[in-house]
Amino acid sequence: MEMQTTQSVTLSLIERPRRLRRTEAIRRMVGETRLSVDQLVAPLFVVEGHGVRQEVPSMPGQYRLSIDELVREARELHALGIPAVALFPALDESLKTPDGREAFNPDGLYPRAIRAVKEAVPELLVITDVALDPYSSDGHDGIVRDGRILNDETVEILARMAVVQAQAGADIVAPSDMMDGRVGAIRRALDEAGFTEVAILSYTAKYASAFYGPFRDALDSAPRHRPGVPPDKKTYQMDPANAREALRELRLDLEEGADMVMVKPALPYLDVIYRVKQASDVPVAAYHVSGEYAMLKAAALNGWLDEKAAVLEALTAICRAGADVILTYFAKQVAQWLQK
Ligand code: PBG
Repeated sequence: MEMQTTQSVTLSLIERPRRLRRTEAIRRMVGETRLSVDQLVAPLFVVEGHGVRQEVPSMPGQYRLSIDELVREARELHALGIPAVALFPALDESLKTPDGREAFNPDGLYPRAIRAVKEAVPELLVITDVALDPYSSDGHDGIVRDGRILNDETVEILARMAVVQAQAGADIVAPSDMMDGRVGAIRRALDEAGFTEVAILSYTAKYASAFYGPFRDALDSAPRHRPGVPPDKKTYQMDPANAREALRELRLDLEEGADMVMVKPALPYLDVIYRVKQASDVPVAAYHVSGEYAMLKAAALNGWLDEKAAVLEALTAICRAGADVILTYFAKQVAQWLQK
């Protein structure tokens, strides 16, 4: 028998899903997920100095910025409609100690950066990172003793750290350390210091991921290779094999007073984002992390992927899985694309 090559045959179909894919206008009208600038948070790295714009080698297009450049960038992001930035400090090695005490210095780089951004662009939300790694000479999020990460001692330090950040003007503090009990301790410390209006965005399900490599390059914050220092963060960050455990972390964070919860990384953990969204009554954020950025950038720079299409698809998928808020190094580019 000969193959039919023309439309002379008509199947008798009641439903033809392709009818709603026929034109750009129809597709636009029936789209189930809408990526918006309103949900984007731009992570930014700050360093000492003036006029510094140092590209991170493993993150093309991302920079360590001195405070003046950081403020300039913050103004641009605000003008594009981005509601928030997440700041991370890259400290000089000489300021790093085992106890991370520089984290309490009210005149340190980080509080100065927070103040400068809030003074220049008050409406732009500043999200701060609560963890010891930028300040730790061991490269860990907590205090290391005898080859172990101390939980309760670390939590006490984190709570003080959050208060210093709130005093500098942080709108939202985001504990990224994964110690047990830190959300409750931070909430109590903030309230006692009078910061009842400062919100907590908890890194609820933060995995021990290989995708943080470029971020650790940016801050020079990887665990130090030396005897007595654990070589990785697996005793506090979650095992990538676990999803149900994320719901346990979620329950604890909500009980302890988290205002928003986060899953991190994003694209390899869409199932976790989905589960956390189903189980929580607070906004859910996802962190599209440095390694996810690096993969897409590297492929795009090689001409192997269409950058705009691939990035918008990735972020739409994160949104579709249930993320209300997305932290992404592509925030500025996406805001520009969405304007057109
Ligand atoms: C550390 C922290 C990390 C990131 C955010 N906060 C790295 C880590 O846990 O080692 C990673 C973000 C990224 O990769 O973009 N508290």
